[in-house]
Amino acid sequence: MGCIYKDKTRTVAERVNDLLERMTLEEKIGQMMQISFTSVSRKEAEEWVTERCAGSFLHTLGDDARHLQKLALSTRLGIPLLFGIDAVRGHALHNGATIFPTQLAMACSWNPELIRMAGRVTAREVSADGLHWTFSPILCLGRDLRWGRINETFGEDPYLTGVLAASIIQGYQGDSLSDADSILACAKHYIAYGEGTGGRDAYDSQISIRKVREVFLPPFRKAVEARCATFMSSYQSIDGTPVTANKKVLRKLLKDELGFEGFVVTDWDNTLSLIVNQHVAGDMETAARKAVEAGNDMIMNTNAFYDAALKLAGEGVIPVELIDDAVRRILKMKFELGLFDGKAYTQPGTNTDAIGCEEHLAVALDLTRECIVLLENRNNTLPLAEMVKKIAVIGPNADNIQSQFGDWTFLSHPTPKPHEVPKLPVRTFLSGIMELAEKRGISVTYHRGCDIMNKDDEDIAGAVECASTADVVIAVVGDCLEQNGEYKDRADLALSGSQQKLLESLKQCGKPLIVILVNGKPLAIPWVAKNADAVLETFNSGLFGGKAAAEIIFGEVNPSGKLPISFPYHSGQLPVYYNHLPGWHGGRYMDMPEKPLYSFGYGLSFTSYEYSNLHLSHTACSADDTVTVSVDVTNKGPYDGKETVQLYVKDVISSVVTPVKQLKGFMKTEIKSGETKTVKIDLPVRELFIIDENENQVVEPGEFEILVGPDSRDESLLKAVLTVV
Ligand code: NOJ
Repeated sequence: MGCIYKDKTRTVAERVNDLLERMTLEEKIGQMMQISFTSVSRKEAEEWVTERCAGSFLHTLGDDARHLQKLALSTRLGIPLLFGIDAVRGHALHNGATIFPTQLAMACSWNPELIRMAGRVTAREVSADGLHWTFSPILCLGRDLRWGRINETFGEDPYLTGVLAASIIQGYQGDSLSDADSILACAKHYIAYGEGTGGRDAYDSQISIRKVREVFLPPFRKAVEARCATFMSSYQSIDGTPVTANKKVLRKLLKDELGFEGFVVTDWDNTLSLIVNQHVAGDMETAARKAVEAGNDMIMNTNAFYDAALKLAGEGVIPVELIDDAVRRILKMKFELGLFDGKAYTQPGTNTDAIGCEEHLAVALDLTRECIVLLENRNNTLPLAEMVKKIAVIGPNADNIQSQFGDWTFLSHPTPKPHEVPKLPVRTFLSGIMELAEKRGISVTYHRGCDIMNKDDEDIAGAVECASTADVVIAVVGDCLEQNGEYKDRADLALSGSQQKLLESLKQCGKPLIVILVNGKPLAIPWVAKNADAVLETFNSGLFGGKAAAEIIFGEVNPSGKLPISFPYHSGQLPVYYNHLPGWHGGRYMDMPEKPLYSFGYGLSFTSYEYSNLHLSHTACSADDTVTVSVDVTNKGPYDGKETVQLYVKDVISSVVTPVKQLKGFMKTEIKSGETKTVKIDLPVRELFIIDENENQVVEPGEFEILVGPDSRDESLLKAVLTVV
């Protein structure tokens, strides 16, 4: 007779229970294993499947994945493997797939719908390649810019991060996980990973659990509400307890309190890290026990976990209920995804044409256009005037695909391949500008000027000569792959190599100087802010950065990006996030300005918007109400545009110290030249929560300032008062 677990007409719960009852302890612990194909030999990989019933592989593609899947299906119970990959900005480890801007760049769009579509495209391409699961999105907050992984975040703000994360999760997981083109999302790195003291990657986050709940939990809560299938536990410790061994934040907070029903995978070799990096376990048995007790369900790449856990579970040291809970969660997702019902992929897919198809590239281009932030535009330098006939494009990032792409593409992962040639046409800044210039009969000259890392590799005189005959100079500078990512925290965020010297020399030419920034994260660039005639921030923009920037430069697109993160004047000014606490005597370092160089939410347009008539649907409310906040926005300039209206809240008096303001809503909307739009944003009063001294989430009665405007700066915001009774 057929088994219940193979019967599609049964519920997932029935199928999971049936399968679990049939499994041996070995098979159960096998399901908890995630093996890295790049860390074992082919034979070992096969043995993990045939002899130990491994549950998952990561970074395994194409024929290798199909081969292992066939082996898995031929085992006693035929439990399919789950294949995971870091498709964090499109299926970007696959050369030929659509590559989106990094999350930080995507967040500049403040456009949840386009980000949802990016998730959808990614899911279609990943699934077409026979894979099931992306380790994305990243919900870490980018608050200390020295951290090497700022580029992977949606910026510094918990609310914006949560909204964008929920959108991309929806895109990945589609209407139903079982749809052919849906994949599992993974909210990572849970929790407070970006807060490593000093911006140090995987170091201790010296914060309280109250702070975890107040600042870092909200985006993850939104991920649970969006039914994100998996979470990844983070590398670092919180106040001395490694997250991998942290029952309080994993089992209790995430699973018991938030009711997360999916499974938790550790980060890379996190279980071993308990021994070799964090020294809270002297041997693998202790580490394995701590990891399971804390609430990790799947173990990434610590293969020694298997023997240790098997022994301890056999002896009853690890209760078998904990193993069952982990395996139940993993199997549940395998069933919900449809792995037992046709998504196991043992044959090459028929829909591989979806990978990098025109429709997907069009989504990437649309999104990239909205990801670019105009930071300066003195005397309307942009769009370029008609009399410009010759452009000099100068700088180390003008024609540098690796810098433009940034981290987590096939050029960087799983192993660096800097010289691999992209299969899809990439528009660098040089080629993008050349293409549009040619159409207008404008000539373009180019000089690299200098290197980003090596001070000796420069030809400033050559660059200046190239610039001297042009009508405008476009300098493309920033940082490079070596300065971003894991193990790449930076103490100094100034322009490296001879880039500063290059810019100062170009300025001397006396031509309008337009600076395009190509960088993983905000840099300390006060000279650029003061001296450039126009500045475009593009971060790591993927395939179409050069095209989208050129469209802005020539006025085909009106920029609408806004910063999801603040820029410092100097590395020593960090942290500069806008939602800081009050109370600092003096409110500034005596040798630094009080404000950041560029504030959260800031970004210019070719047109200008005027805000008026801020209105609240009610000025007194209770904690269960939703208040509708409306404001009139008039496009006063000559261009149609898209404006992001931002709503901040300040708790006037609270029982604990609360931030000077916090984003609690936003809306991006198109406004035609001359048009006035009334923008309405719903504010659920429960969003005005604080975490009190006993770690309870409460909305306290009293007054709240409701602040609405184009960015987070005090001077940009209209104010009304709401009273919670
Ligand atoms: C380590 C990284 O921290 C994580 O983001 C990634 O998903 C895993 N490695 C797998 O590559």
